[in-house]
Order: sequence, then structure tokens, then C-alpha cells
Amino acid sequence: MSTLAVFPGSFDPLTNGHVDIISRGLRIFDRIIVALLVNAEKAPLFSTSERLDILREVFRSEPRVEMDTFDGLLVDYVERRKAQVIVRGLRAVSDFEYEFQMALMNRRLNGRIETVFMMPAEQYTYISSRLIKEVFSLGGKVDGLVPALVEERLRRKLAVKS
Ligand code: PNS
Repeated sequence: MSTLAVFPGSFDPLTNGHVDIISRGLRIFDRIIVALLVNAEKAPLFSTSERLDILREVFRSEPRVEMDTFDGLLVDYVERRKAQVIVRGLRAVSDFEYEFQMALMNRRLNGRIETVFMMPAEQYTYISSRLIKEVFSLGGKVDGLVPALVEERLRRKLAVKS
């Protein structure tokens, strides 16, 4: 049986931590769907289509990674796509409580789907999309923490805003 996993998130923007988790996931799963949540309450820096475009570009040469968007309950989306696993990255103990709650709620909602946590490489354990946006907007360097394409898009976005 081929294993299909869903890696859900906001990806606003994609970081090297996300890329690292997807690469690690490909060692375990046959295919991974990167599922971008749309219609979240918070106002994103990048629009859904901009985020999808970045994801598609970064994983252009990886046929086992598919990009998609989803709305509503994650478990319903996973079921609809006939996937078996939800992949989430765990960076630090501080992630654990929220992730644990989500995993158990998702299990309660659909017991056929398993959540698998993966640890990113140490050099990415402290990065988050929120921190990247904050540091970049205040003039800090984020090279090596996000794909070069994301850095370029951040620069463009900031130039338009200022
Ligand atoms: O990158 P994020 O913002 O940490 O991702 C959070 C995400 C998208 C995985 C989570 O908010 C989610 O699954 N939302 C969909 C709605 C849902 O199913 N909520 C119940 C989760 S227990």
C-alpha cells in the first residue's frame, strides 16, 4: 500500500524548517500533499495564490510533493484525499501542548487518521513564519532560514508596502 501524508499549515511564508520536514517526510511516505489552509481568521502577509506559487516553485522538481488548499476541518480534507497521515513539525517543547491538543482532537474526529510528528534539523528549531516576517520587516537578515525565493518575495512585498 502506498502511504499518502498531508502536511497542513499556513505557510505564511514557507521556511526552511517546513522544507526540511517535507524532505524528511519523503523518506517515510510515498507522497506528501502540502495543504494550505485558506480562509483563516488572521490576515496573512502573502495571499493564498502567492503562497501556493512559492510552494510550487520550491518543490517544482519533486513529483512526490503535491500542493493543494483546504478549508474547513483538516480531518475531512485528509479523508477526502484518501490520505492516512497528518504530518506536523515539532520544534520545541513549547509546540507540544498545542500540537498534542490538535492531534488528539483530530483523532477524536477521525480515528482512522494518524498524526506523525517530525523534528526539523537543529538549525531550524527556533524559526517560525511569524519570526521571519518580524525580523525581515525590521531590517534583519533571514538568509539561510527561508528559501531564496521567499527572501526575494519578502523583499518585493516590503518594497510595495513602504
Ligand atoms: O501552520 P499552522 O498555522 O500552525 O497550521 C495550523 C493548521 C492549519 C494545521 C490548523 O489550524 C488546522 O488544521 N486548521 C483547520 C481547521 C481544523 O481542522 N481545526 C481543528 C483542529 S484540531
